[in-house]
Amino acid sequence: MPALGFGTWPLSGADGTRAVREAIELGYRHIDTAQLYGNEADVGKGIAQSGVARGELWITTKLSRDHLGAKEVARSTDESLKKLGLDHLDLLLIHWPSRTVPVAETLSAMTKLRDAGKTRFIGVSNFTTKLLDEATKHADIICDQVEYHPFLSQRAVLSAVKTHGLFLTAYSPVARGQVPNDKRLQAIGKKYGKSAAQVALRWLIEQDNVAAIPKAGSRAHMQANFEIFDFALAPEDRAAIDGLGSSSGRIVDIAGWSPDWDRPN
Ligand SMILES: NC(=O)c1ccc[n+]([C@@H]2O[C@H](COP(=O)([O-])OP(=O)(O)OC[C@H]3O[C@@H](n4cnc5c(N)ncnc54)[C@H](OP(=O)(O)O)[C@@H]3O)[C@@H](O)[C@H]2O)c1
Repeated sequence: MPALGFGTWPLSGADGTRAVREAIELGYRHIDTAQLYGNEADVGKGIAQSGVARGELWITTKLSRDHLGAKEVARSTDESLKKLGLDHLDLLLIHWPSRTVPVAETLSAMTKLRDAGKTRFIGVSNFTTKLLDEATKHADIICDQVEYHPFLSQRAVLSAVKTHGLFLTAYSPVARGQVPNDKRLQAIGKKYGKSAAQVALRWLIEQDNVAAIPKAGSRAHMQANFEIFDFALAPEDRAAIDGLGSSSGRIVDIAGWSPDWDRPN
């Protein structure tokens, strides 16, 4: 999985297609979408317009909460592939844990799709350490996509993904605009001639098995977020950023959907 991906929520329509095409032109090779975003067809057009060979791209989509029963997993994945204009995905995720469908049922249906060549890998999103312990009993998953940025500690999930040999994909990696405005991260960035957003993205991808998927509608942000491969953070700066996270930094918390999140230890 390329360590830096392009997040596509809430992009859609012609603007979504333009953004995906531009991101791929700028060098992104990992695109993140979901059934819930309602933009798979627009994302698919952007992928096609980019002209980049399918084999060079990593495409992730996610099953909606109402598509987690065995039949719906198969039907909705076919629909996602059709909308995206692809014959296979790289990664298919459970978007949010279900409170009604057993995870074993969903993962077994996803494993069948993987064995049939419709997706190369399967994984989960918004899973806590407890849910990961359960999921890994039922299938060979490769990742947990969770909110992660300098203001939200994910120490518990990081430790669990390490134990299970998984990737952690960081969503909302620039904390939806809070990172770029943070004076402490701006000050660290000054040392490297980088912005606060670039520092946060670099801090994420320097961590073992962590990928980040910032969303940017503007070409300037897309480009800036990609310019993080020409510097490395000094240990004292990494430690300073490590110290900014807490459990109160969570942005994405949806009543009725969110699991009982891990508390940082
Ligand atoms: N699995 C899940 O449940 C889940 C939940 C949320 C998100 N996601 C995925 O993660 C992706 C990213 O998360 P997100 O969209 O919530 O948050 P994000 O990427 O942290 O923040 C996006 C916002 O930050 C701005 N931004 C990006 N780069 C910037 C820069 N260099 N300087 C200043 N501002 C910058 C963007 O502005 P412009 O758009 O104006 O450029 C946009 O308003 C989503 O698109 C989606 O694919 C997954």
